[in-house]
Amino acid sequence: MTDYTNWPLIGQGEERSCYLNPDDPTRMAKFSPIRQSTQTRREIRYFNTLIKKGVPFDFIPRYYGEIHEKDRLGIEQEFIADEPDSFRAAPTVSDYVSRSLTAEEIAEFRKAYFQLKDYLLRWNVIPANLAISNVVVSKTPSGLRLVMVDGVGGTELIPLANWFRFLGKRKIERKWVKLTRRLNAINSRLNL
Ligand SMILES: Nc1ncnc2c1ncn2[C@@H]1O[C@H](COP(=O)(O)OP(=O)(O)O)[C@@H](O)[C@H]1O
Ligand SMILES: [Mg+2]
Repeated sequence: MTDYTNWPLIGQGEERSCYLNPDDPTRMAKFSPIRQSTQTRREIRYFNTLIKKGVPFDFIPRYYGEIHEKDRLGIEQEFIADEPDSFRAAPTVSDYVSRSLTAEEIAEFRKAYFQLKDYLLRWNVIPANLAISNVVVSKTPSGLRLVMVDGVGGTELIPLANWFRFLGKRKIERKWVKLTRRLNAINSRLNL
């Protein structure tokens, strides 16, 4: 059995702790206490639905499976590094846009920002919680890649937005407006 307690901690949310796989730094694991694992269970269901539908995991971490332990429920997924082959986690969008960015970096960010939106709309990938701590910014050889690392899938008991594109679109647009407002408030030069 894998001993995850030796894996370095690379992120901490309100609910989950995230650890990097020391043998394969393209992978990480995140755990919720069993009693607080509703979100993780919902995410596992949703990831499996997306895989069945053939949705590419280009803007969400690639999903590698569930981890069952006595007191915790975990998922193994792609580790989003700040740049290729790095062991450092990608900064959140809020950290990224708080930096002093050049005009070119702002243009690059804007492009990546709208690529994420196009992806969500095209594949009807529903954000439950498009918070500024749940989207990270990774540098790749072909430009920035924004990845939604948390809060994927609707939270409703009957997730109609997952099934009906027009409802999905409405939900994505609504969450997107909020995220845009928050980012513009952090850095007014973004002009998103
Ligand atoms: N796949 C990932 N790759 C890199 N960093 C991640 C990944 N998943 C989460 N993180 C980092 O860990 C933090 C907490 O993880 P998150 O899944 O958002 O936990 P919670 O559900 O408790 O909010 C995130 O804000 C992000 O900075
Ligand atoms: Mg989070």
